[in-house]
Amino acid sequence: MSRKKLNRGVAIVGAGMSKFGAFTGLSTRDLFVQAFQDMRASIDKGFDPNDIEALYIGNYSSDLFEGQGHTAPFMADWTGLAPRPATRIEDACASSGVALRQGIIAIASGLYDIVLVGGIEKMNDLPTSEVTDTLATASDILYEIPAGFTFPGFYAAMATAYMHKYGATPETFMKVGIKNHENGSLNEKAQFGATIRKVMDGKIAKAKTRGYPEPTWADEIEFLHDDRANPVIAWPMRLFDCSPISDGAAALLLVGEELATKFSDAPLYIIGSGQASDVALHDRKDMTALRAAQLAGKEAFEMAGVTPADIHVAEVHDCFTIAEVIATEDLGFFPQGEGYKAAEDGRTARLGERPINTSGGLKSKGHPVGASGAGQAVEIWKQLRGQAGERQLPGEPTLGLTHNVGGTGQTCVVHIYERR
Ligand code: COA
Repeated sequence: MSRKKLNRGVAIVGAGMSKFGAFTGLSTRDLFVQAFQDMRASIDKGFDPNDIEALYIGNYSSDLFEGQGHTAPFMADWTGLAPRPATRIEDACASSGVALRQGIIAIASGLYDIVLVGGIEKMNDLPTSEVTDTLATASDILYEIPAGFTFPGFYAAMATAYMHKYGATPETFMKVGIKNHENGSLNEKAQFGATIRKVMDGKIAKAKTRGYPEPTWADEIEFLHDDRANPVIAWPMRLFDCSPISDGAAALLLVGEELATKFSDAPLYIIGSGQASDVALHDRKDMTALRAAQLAGKEAFEMAGVTPADIHVAEVHDCFTIAEVIATEDLGFFPQGEGYKAAEDGRTARLGERPINTSGGLKSKGHPVGASGAGQAVEIWKQLRGQAGERQLPGEPTLGLTHNVGGTGQTCVVHIYERR
């Protein structure tokens, strides 16, 4: 296939998000309004919302999570944007990454100049068992669900296959969790504001106060090996290997490239976009790599004319810690089978050679599934504009990447962003 290109350049001139977390009494509408307001505040030169011509909203399943279908026009209404056309995009956990791509295509086609892209999900109205069932509908309900699989189960199977093939251990994955909680502790929008060390110290302090026997964990790894502190969800994935059940929303304002500096002092230009799909997990020959991610990454890199080595910061889809390791290989940051060594050696840490998930990732920032892809772009926006606060990367990064996966990798969408 020939190298793909956009017929017209597209830039992000505003990006914002609600806090991610568990919010009783708030609906996706409230969260989206918060994200929209945060996005508005980020537009350096201001803008008139009436200039927005269309909305593309990623949402996995408000129907089942909240009992509300047909969500996109509600987002237009609650942000004062009706009667603009509002379209919902559903691609499981990749919904808003794909919504971003649809917004880009709409501008590149010349149909619109100014488009709002959003992502929304409100998962905490349901108990965990029903959330698990709802998420499971994103897998193959003919073959995989009758076999007893849940999402933690799928990724546990991938982790087991990966460990068997390459020699990683459960501790490899624990180190990914420790890193992402460390990053998330520096992100005021993250669901988990604490490092794993802080969680551990909190439990020791609580035991002391209550007069219980004091736990004797020597360090975070020992804490994470403790079945009571960190229960197995689906071996080898434990509690601190899983992204949480989250509520949240994110919003991005896209414009044609030639308009970007009218809105922003430092726009992010979309230089690469790729998307691919794959068969369900049970139909794949190899469970240690996601072909859709490899293909989406290849397409995005070719369009951008850059290589993995050029990327300064990446937000990858760590719905489970194993997924981050696999993503770093699928995207070409590390050779196949070596991503786990990079994770173990701290090379993917915020101040390592290849910073991955500086926001805390889905693991610690939270994973309101339909909002996660747009949320990843918000982090790249902040890092490339030097606005990431305490977690800001040194050295003025100019190239960023997002990698957003739907289901077990049946959908993957990758974007590459440049600050010029
Ligand atoms: N990581 C770390 N801590 C977590 C957590 C997570 N993913 N989920 C919950 N916790 C903490 C809570 O803060 C709470 O802490 P506290 O006791 O100190 O207050 C404690 O664990 C229990 O929380 P609870 O909400 O009762 O957990 P749960 O057992 O209902 O849910 C999981 C835990 C792992 C089952 C749930 O988070 C989950 O299903 N995650 C995966 C979601 C998913 O599959 N997403 C789609 C991916 S493709």
